[in-house]
This record gives sequence, structure tokens and C-alpha cells, in this order.
Amino acid sequence: MSHHQYPTELHTVCDVVRWAMSEMERFDVSLGHGTADYWEEATFLVLRTLKLPFDRLEAFWNAHLTQDELWEVLKNIESRVHNKVPAPYLVHEAWLTEHPFYVDERVLIPRSYIAELLEEGLEPWVEPENVHTVLDMCTGSGCLAILAQMAFSKAQVTGADISADALEVAKINRSKYGLDDTLELVQTDIFSHLGKRKFDLIISNPPYVTQQAMEELPAEYRHEPALALEAGDDGMDFMRRFMPALKEHLTENGVAIVEIGDGREAFEAIWPELPVTWLSTEEEEDMVFAVRAEDLQHL
Ligand SMILES: C[S@@+](CC[C@H](N)C(=O)[O-])C[C@H]1O[C@@H](n2cnc3c(N)ncnc32)[C@H](O)[C@@H]1O
Repeated sequence: MSHHQYPTELHTVCDVVRWAMSEMERFDVSLGHGTADYWEEATFLVLRTLKLPFDRLEAFWNAHLTQDELWEVLKNIESRVHNKVPAPYLVHEAWLTEHPFYVDERVLIPRSYIAELLEEGLEPWVEPENVHTVLDMCTGSGCLAILAQMAFSKAQVTGADISADALEVAKINRSKYGLDDTLELVQTDIFSHLGKRKFDLIISNPPYVTQQAMEELPAEYRHEPALALEAGDDGMDFMRRFMPALKEHLTENGVAIVEIGDGREAFEAIWPELPVTWLSTEEEEDMVFAVRAEDLQHL
């Protein structure tokens, strides 16, 4: 669709949200990047394109858009509906718990279940006063490292990622949250550039998507970096390298909290004896496990 073909009947916020919803339904848009239905998806996309808060819709519902705004909104709706670009990439913003992060196609769109657990300070797994050092392995946009810094304000937090591109985005978020002087970012393939450093807490949301699941993913996910998702036949490619090295990088009473999606069965096939604890969040179970340093001696 080109500019001159846009419907001329659209004038207000209500008009464009309504149109976006119809188009999403008509062209079978997939959700999965932060919204529950087309209403949420359309209001998020439209309101944030207009730089308006999406939780005070009634104030703007009947407001007319300028010509330039209308053009920008319709362009974003077109990219969302026809190119299946996830909304956070179009408005450069993704929300995790109550916090917004800058995003673009260099990083996975934040949606980790670990965010919710961090809100509760990872209780009962860690005692906040004993957490002096934290590593967020596979930090991507830096979202979990930043939430960890909020949860453990006195701790030295490090975010690590193999992708220089992702780390550029993490730097943007680090500045946004005023953490330039405190949050460390390191480019490293797993622990390779972290020497013998040990941490009281390691959190990680690594790539864990199986080959088959990769092939079946809706088009939206193909806009995300494959490096952030792909983990081989059984989804355990990253974990096979990470788990054996993990114990060398945890302090004596250290704890690791790791998200592996639907990977529990594959994980247990590799490490049947390892005493990890599967955690539940509001919506999901068995997506995240906790393991103590002492238990990793069994590896
Ligand atoms: C699933 S994303 C998670 C990003 C972010 N922590 C989040 O929750 O939104 C996984 C991240 O792991 C990084 N990654 C992949 N392989 C890696 C490796 N061998 N070492 C370090 N990071 C890696 C990718 O670049 C990507 O940013």
C-alpha cells in the first residue's frame, strides 16, 4: 500500500485504533511481544507512535491527528500488519514489569519471566544483603541487568553478551536509567572474557528455541536476532556449554536463576540428577529454574 491509497476517512485517535484493529484481524497478525489482544496491540502502537501514554486513552480518544502524525501512524500500522514487524520495534519501546526499555532489531524484545521474580527480590533464593555481585548472562537490551540493579541497589551488576550490536542497545538503556557509572557491560562468549570472576547471583535468559520451534515461529519472531533465540536441535546448545562452567563463576553461597522456556524435559534428559528447583510465575510454571553453587558439584 502506498501513501495515496490510505483511507481518507481516518481523522481521530479512535479512527486509527479502530482501523488498526480491523487490519490486524484481517491480516492475521500474531501477538506475543507484550500485548494480550488486538485492542492492546493497536492502542499501544497508535498511542506510542503519537508519544502519548496508553493508560489515559479517554483524554485523547477524540483528538484529531495532524497530517504528519496520520502518515506516521498509518506507516507503522502497515509495517505491523503487512511486514509483521513487532510493535516494540516500530515505537522503539518495550515494557517489562512496570519499566520501559529502548529496543530495536539488534535485540530480543524483553519478555523474560525472570523480571517478575526480580520484583520480589528473588526470595527466598537470595538474601539481598548477601548479594554483592550480580551477572546477567545474555543481557541483550540490558533489561534484566537494569531490573537486577534496581532490586539489589548496592550490588555491582554486570551484563554480558556475545553480540556487540546488542550491547550498543544495552548502553542506551544503561544511560536512560542513569546507570553509566555503575552497570558494567562486557562482550563475551559465555564466560570466556570474564576470567575467573565469581558472582553471588547469576541470572540468565539465554537462547533456548529448538530447531523445530524456530521453523514454526510466527513471522513476527523472524524480526528478532536469530542469535538470541536459536539453540540447536533440542534447544540446549547454549546450556551444554554454560552449565559445566557455571560453578566456577558462582561464589560459595551463590545462586543461579536461569530461564529455559519449554526446555525442562530436554534439560532433565541431559542432567537427570541435578537438584534444580523449578519456579513458577503468575502465568507460567517450569520456565525458570534456580540452582545453588553447592548443588552444581553434582554436575
Ligand atoms: C533470549 S535473549 C535475552 C536478552 C535479554 N536478557 C532479555 O531477557 O530480554 C539471549 C541473548 O543471548 C545472547 N547470546 C547468545 N549466545 C551467547 C553466548 N554464547 N554468549 C553470550 N551471550 C550470548 C544473544 O546475543 C541475546 O542477546
